[in-house]
Amino acid sequence: MKILVTGGLGYIGSHTVVELLEEGYEVIIVDNLVNSKREVLDKIKKITGIAVTFYEYDLCDKEKINLVFDKEKIDAVIHFAGLKAVGESVEKPLLYYQNNLISTLNLLEAMQKHNVKKIVFSSSATVYGNPKSLPIYEDFSLSATNPYGNTKLIIENILTDLYKSDNSFDITILRYFNPIGSHKSGLLGEDPNGIPNNLMPYIVRVATHELDVLNIYGSDYDTVDGTGVRDYIHVLDLANGHVLALKNNKSGLKIYNLGTGKGTSVLELVTMFEKVTGLKINKKIVSRREGDVAACYASNEKASKELGFKPKYNIEDMCLDSYNYIKKSKEIN
Ligand code: NAD
Ligand code: UFG
Repeated sequence: MKILVTGGLGYIGSHTVVELLEEGYEVIIVDNLVNSKREVLDKIKKITGIAVTFYEYDLCDKEKINLVFDKEKIDAVIHFAGLKAVGESVEKPLLYYQNNLISTLNLLEAMQKHNVKKIVFSSSATVYGNPKSLPIYEDFSLSATNPYGNTKLIIENILTDLYKSDNSFDITILRYFNPIGSHKSGLLGEDPNGIPNNLMPYIVRVATHELDVLNIYGSDYDTVDGTGVRDYIHVLDLANGHVLALKNNKSGLKIYNLGTGKGTSVLELVTMFEKVTGLKINKKIVSRREGDVAACYASNEKASKELGFKPKYNIEDMCLDSYNYIKKSKEIN
């Protein structure tokens, strides 16, 4: 099977490409490098021994994306490409709507035109807004609090309407919780430009002394120790979830949470990071971050039952692998 992976040089995409290649799939990547580097291609080759076909195209360019479908005989698409920074989306909503929606519409149109009907889409736990209870099930009500989240909700609606109009489409929406960790080789991982927004990249920067102190956003939540609780999932488990989604025999429109089902607080994560790395993380409690929820973790029962999804890695592995990637890429001893 030939799989088109959009955004395949990004953080989750690159790990999934490796997993796909190791499972014997042929992979074509389209990525405009807006948030990734071409050298990831060499790293994928180093890990798997396979040189993947790569098109440096922007999915917002309709002609280009159609060219890929004209040229390659694609069987299915995994659609990771998109902008993902919540804060930036509040500052530049038009950029987010433009990039995430136009690219998806172009992709779906090209798929329809070329009779490619199978797609796996990267959605997010952000679509649950402030959940009414925990754990979060797939049938909970949906809402968004920022333009990024809105683009995910709108795309989920577009996919639902597309399926209603043509039920030969085979659509899987995967709602990711909080991916962290990196490939065991230390060659692939996450190293955002600028000051990181997300917790694990920030912890790592404090560990490497690139940043002085970790601000913990609030210690007065109704959680185990007052700090925010999230469902961290190893990016390798997440990557595996995509392969399982491709192999799923159930057709139609399917929605799955991809999380571990376990909540971990900010302080618990920092403490585990310190334990496995032997490093001290300088931290201070500051006020809550606007828009944050107290706790968010998945029920992964549906993915487990229907896809056979069973996360293998724990928080310890996630901390170690997140740090190892940065250590290796920055040649820290
Ligand atoms: P990433 O930024 O590392 O990867 C996205 C890739 O898409 C990048 O390589 C970027 O260059 C590419 N891209 C963006 N716009 C494009 C366009 N118009 N044309 C072609 N390529 C384009 O992000 P990631 O963390 O790997 O996330 C992948 C997907 O998963 C995104 O859709 C994201 O919203 C979603 N998601 C991520 C998280 C997370 O915490 N990382 C959580 C939930 C959902
Ligand atoms: N946090 C800190 N300090 C930091 C960064 C984060 O204390 O410097 C806390 C947050 O307050 C929260 C927890 O760490 O309690 C996790 O925060 P992240 O920013 O890492 O993750 P979020 O759950 O807020 O959001 C992430 C992505 C969203 C996505 C969501 C669900 O950024 O895009 O997960 O998948 F929608």
